[in-house]
Amino acid sequence: MKVLDAKFVQGFIRMCDDGWQQGWHERNGGNLSYRLKEEEVRQVRTALSFDGAWHPIGTSVPGLSGEFFMVTGSGKYFRNVILDPEDSLCLIELDGKGENYRILWGLCHGGRPTSELPSHLMNHEVKKRASKGAHRVIYHAHTTNIIALTFVLPLKSEVFTRELWEMATECPVVFPSGIGVVDWMVPGGREIAVETSKLMEEYDVAVWAHHGMFCSGEDFDQAFGLMHTVEKSAEILVKMLSIRPDKLQTILPEDFRNLAREFKVTLPEKFLYEK
Ligand code: 13P
Ligand code: ZN
Repeated sequence: MKVLDAKFVQGFIRMCDDGWQQGWHERNGGNLSYRLKEEEVRQVRTALSFDGAWHPIGTSVPGLSGEFFMVTGSGKYFRNVILDPEDSLCLIELDGKGENYRILWGLCHGGRPTSELPSHLMNHEVKKRASKGAHRVIYHAHTTNIIALTFVLPLKSEVFTRELWEMATECPVVFPSGIGVVDWMVPGGREIAVETSKLMEEYDVAVWAHHGMFCSGEDFDQAFGLMHTVEKSAEILVKMLSIRPDKLQTILPEDFRNLAREFKVTLPEKFLYEK
């Protein structure tokens, strides 16, 4: 089968376009990666070239050795993915040590995978283990309202989680384990990848201060839906803070406990502190 005809590739392209339409991907901002299932590799194998050079990932992900990923290219615009996916995306394979990758398809006019490949792959490695193989999508977006909040809220998981849970009743059901927060760091390297992947042990969302967000999910719907929910909640908080700095009423810790019981989710008590 042609790579572009595969259902996972169609899903990947649609998600890039959805993100662009949300306004989260100015210029080349943001990146997306998907860990292929074995049957998906089989579907497209004859359309792949296995003679490309190996390149260092910049970190080590032995838990992903031999895995195949579709990823956005570095410097590529999400806006263009739907028009020319073969120029914007690539399919890569990792070597037996999880230290090098090679391009098997895509980036037809040259280029390399996203500069955030270390963060994507280290997050995939953690999530693959923690979810027993269920999580396959890692998504990085420059979400406007979350970025704005990183200038005015303390950069603490407890605060971001609690404030965003309060903004929409279903938020604790969508991200019950909460949100991790990474202080400002230089993007694109191993250091920020290590910090982010540590948080991914516990959370499915990590905020990068003054930069954006990383989300993990089992499929495109779940990862996009999570990004969308957190960012919408951040938008409500920005609006609320713009009207007046305090709340007249809100959802209280006891309300969250009742919600957790009814919706059968576990909400860690560390987020339900008295203010
Ligand atoms: P890339 O174009 O290399 O994917 O970088 C975009 C980005 O958002 C970096 O954090
Ligand atoms: Zn970025």
